[in-house]
Amino acid sequence: MANDKATLSIGEKSWDFSVRQASVGPDIIDIASLYKETGAFTFDPGFTSTASCESDITFIDGDEGVLLHRGYAIDELADKGDFLETCYLLLYGELPNKAEGDAFRERVTMHTMVHEQMNKFYTGFRRDAHPMAIMCGVVGALSAFYHDSTDISDENQRMIASLRMIAKMPTLAAMAHKYHIGQPFVYPRNDLDYASNFLHMCFAVPTEDYKVNPVLARAMDKIFTLHADHEQNASTSTVRLAGSSGANPFACIAAGIACLWGPAHGGANEAALNMLQEIGTVDRIPEYVKRAKDKNDPFRLMGFGHRVYKNYDPRAKIMQETTHEVLKELGIKDDPTLEVAMELERIALTDEYFIEKKLYPNIDFYSGITLRALGFPTNMFTVLFAVARTVGWIAQWKEMIEDPKQKIGRPRQLYTGPTSRPYMDVSKR
Ligand code: SDX
Repeated sequence: MANDKATLSIGEKSWDFSVRQASVGPDIIDIASLYKETGAFTFDPGFTSTASCESDITFIDGDEGVLLHRGYAIDELADKGDFLETCYLLLYGELPNKAEGDAFRERVTMHTMVHEQMNKFYTGFRRDAHPMAIMCGVVGALSAFYHDSTDISDENQRMIASLRMIAKMPTLAAMAHKYHIGQPFVYPRNDLDYASNFLHMCFAVPTEDYKVNPVLARAMDKIFTLHADHEQNASTSTVRLAGSSGANPFACIAAGIACLWGPAHGGANEAALNMLQEIGTVDRIPEYVKRAKDKNDPFRLMGFGHRVYKNYDPRAKIMQETTHEVLKELGIKDDPTLEVAMELERIALTDEYFIEKKLYPNIDFYSGITLRALGFPTNMFTVLFAVARTVGWIAQWKEMIEDPKQKIGRPRQLYTGPTSRPYMDVSKR
């Protein structure tokens, strides 16, 4: 932006506010002193025009369909790297060299087990409890076990807590899956890589050896990378707000999991697959597209649209490729759900309503088809999103805690309720 200041006028009075330049993307108008100077608040309920923080971690260009993690494009990270390398990048800011990467993998591997008493939390749930409900509970409970890594003022404890979260989420998620289907828990194995270990914990049974399919493990790893971080989305903002009060990292991640669960956010992958299965056949698509366009119908096409991407979600493209790779590896031909998804995408992308509102498929549109093909039940889809997003939440939490200007988040409001009035005795009401 040419000027380095923005002027606001209310009536006869005006005030100047500094404009700060982004390294890439929109600049910001620093209005931190606006209330003090003008006595007025800004009003932006969905934060559609509000930057809540300064960050070096992830950048999204919604118009160009670009997603960068510390400057590296998501398609390169997903295709050429792996999830733990992306975790290192998000946490430390640089890609690891061989020695750094190996040491990081080793450290994560050494934290994959959970305290044996964690098992008892699972048995308190009904078997048909939604796995996301279980994850909200057991992740928050981690703070009851790791007192040695909840002093957030200690850099070393912050890093141990970060590693513990990244390492233990797959174990807790797999336990939620096993508990839900009534099978025994499977312990993590130190000889398996992150994605293979997760598939093993989810699908191995005591009665026979489980051989991890390398193509499927690679697909799982890619899916984790695609979901790792995404700027200040709803769940990341929840983690930051919870962390701004000084809450311990395990409690903050549990808050992020709760927010991610919503169907407008991470719950969309489960909702999108349920929608595709409800549509069932290609001939029923027009009926659902009509409903999605009807203002009086709350139905929306799950997996379509995005607050930031007004172009194709770059993750959705890679997700679609991964879907085809997995279905081919499993010899699944003519998957009716995939057929409906691809026809729905074709119709939506040519429909005036979707074009005008810039509604494109997002990452949740294809992920469900892939995850179902990998063998996961639909209610585990958002849990997998949470496993992957944990590194993003933790990296953003760390960045906030380490920001010397950090203070507790406490938004204000536009009050439109009753003004002061005297108490009225019940006999007069
Ligand atoms: C994720 O923020 C992130 O980065 C999230 C995420 C991440 O990695 O963290 O990318 C992950 O959450 C992806 C989004 C998953 N959610 C869904 O797929 C659910 C379906 N999508 C919508 O609910 C919606 O598109 C949102 C919630 C994703 C975005 O909502 P916005 O930005 O608030 O946009 P909006 O609701 O104001 O919609 C703009 C218009 C509206 O019409 P008008 O009021 O202008 O007439 O588009 C319409 C909406 O009705 N619209 C849709 C639609 N999404 C928006 N119409 C039909 N189907 C849809 N899916």
